[in-house]
Amino acid sequence: MSAQFIVECIDCHNRGPFFVNSTSCPNCGSAWREARYDYETIARSLPLVLPERPFDLWRYRELLPVRSPNPDLSLGEGGTPLIRATNLGMMLGCQNLYIKDERQSPTHSFKDRQAAVTVAALKEAGVTEVVIASTGNVAISYSAYAARAGIKCWAFLTSLVPGAKMREVAIYGTQVVKITGSYDQAKQVANTFARQRGLYQDTGARSIPNIEAMKTIAYEIVEQLTALLGPPSDSGNHGMPIWTAPDWYIQAVSGGMGPLGVLKGFGELFQMGLIDRIPKIAAIQAEGCAPMVHAWRLGQETATPVQAPNTQIITLATGDPGRTYTLLRQRILAASGGTFESVSDEDSYRAMHLIAKMEGLSVEPAAGVAFAGLIKLIRNGQIKPSERIVVNCTGHTMTIEKNILGEGWSRNVVLSTQAMEDSPEDGLLAALSRVAIDRFPRIAIVDDNPDVRRLIRRILQSQGNYELFEATNGREAIELAKREQPNLIILDLMMPEVDGFGVLQALEADPDTAEIPVIVVTAKELTPAEKARLKGHIQTLMQKGDFMSDDLQDEVRALLG
Ligand SMILES: Cc1ncc(COP(=O)(O)O)c(C=O)c1O
Ligand SMILES: [Zn+2]
Repeated sequence: MSAQFIVECIDCHNRGPFFVNSTSCPNCGSAWREARYDYETIARSLPLVLPERPFDLWRYRELLPVRSPNPDLSLGEGGTPLIRATNLGMMLGCQNLYIKDERQSPTHSFKDRQAAVTVAALKEAGVTEVVIASTGNVAISYSAYAARAGIKCWAFLTSLVPGAKMREVAIYGTQVVKITGSYDQAKQVANTFARQRGLYQDTGARSIPNIEAMKTIAYEIVEQLTALLGPPSDSGNHGMPIWTAPDWYIQAVSGGMGPLGVLKGFGELFQMGLIDRIPKIAAIQAEGCAPMVHAWRLGQETATPVQAPNTQIITLATGDPGRTYTLLRQRILAASGGTFESVSDEDSYRAMHLIAKMEGLSVEPAAGVAFAGLIKLIRNGQIKPSERIVVNCTGHTMTIEKNILGEGWSRNVVLSTQAMEDSPEDGLLAALSRVAIDRFPRIAIVDDNPDVRRLIRRILQSQGNYELFEATNGREAIELAKREQPNLIILDLMMPEVDGFGVLQALEADPDTAEIPVIVVTAKELTPAEKARLKGHIQTLMQKGDFMSDDLQDEVRALLG
């Protein structure tokens, strides 16, 4: 099946056929053009054909700039899961928080979409050699797809790209050119090289196949949200809109291709009447390289380039976003809204730990930036916890970079040869005695909601060594406290039968349990009278949905001494 489409210049609106090799408008010379399809026909046919197709990005082939997708080039791109972030959602008080898990792409980043579609378009046009400049992931994705397609690839990488990523690029047979300088400088060198040799060069957000590839994220999200949450409530109305859109799409940005493409996807879906809103976009940058955020805060249409990016998160080190920022800003202002925000490297690393420990996803620092941005925007009230939020988890670092974990993440067991010879059993025990102490602090978790018990258990077990007990109501809690003599109790207030206030009274009335410190974690908005009732009887009060794992952990450590 072939896609019927034309390209339109966004400056002079000249329309014409698409040739992957022609990268500027034949009329005005602008490098900014967009693909346009027959949306009216597609709006009718797409919902009918989709159920028959596999869940990968080629299911939207009528909306992609490849005439005849070749299955032999595919590595299974697109079709990544949309995962409900239950634990993180509870911490932030968000019922509807989802993660688009782009780590599950063939080379573990969302840039596989870009490479899959572009390489398919290049192959179709008979192109045999490409040049790319990259902060790492684009080069890896291109290298894998170029390898399959028999296209020679030149990758210009800033020398700041971690060695493990560079080697990953090299193993696919790509020519790696290491540029000692910034990413923007690497891009300039790549430009000159491609021009000199007359080779195709990836032009980032100006490339039609790149933007079209990224928009498939929007299509997948609305299909997946609909499967999870059901269709929008007014979908009985002529059968449209049929898909549920999120309120927010959050992504870490460097050059901004992702959000520009995703916004085009949501825009098309809205134009076709298939969704009822265009989501707000939150584009998150690393503080040390945040030209878009600075310009946004100042209300400027053009971003001033950051000459010397100062972030360890090299993946996001585009100092000069060029016109991508201007377009994103215009479209965000014209559509339903959105924002640009920056976060520190430290907050991003903290978010990486949090996502790994609470959701089971090991993400790369760039994706950590998106999660740190989410936390910041919820904290400062720009995103309301009641909204439907999708965070793009854009990539996975297969090698955890050294500076992420810090010290003390492993315990070393050294077996003494002599001790092992004398008595293997004793030798092993002696060696293991350094792994963990015999007796851990004992903590009782009291809550009638099993999800909350699981969340608190997970926070505690992922960050320290404790012996944990659970009680599911007040009566059980009182018995448990007397029997197990925990060093600390984490107590809910609203429970059936005996509530938290009742538990506190009973504990205090019994000399065996009167001295046990108590942290109250409650979802209840407490009245001043209730607060007064707790005063002097508990050590700490925490609000559910408004504390991070570090906060709870800090309190626990402080109380256990
Ligand atoms: C893992 C990851 N996340 C986010 C980004 C930012 O992407 P962009 O600004 O091009 O949408 C990149 C860019 O390479 C990336 O590799
Ligand atoms: Zn033009």
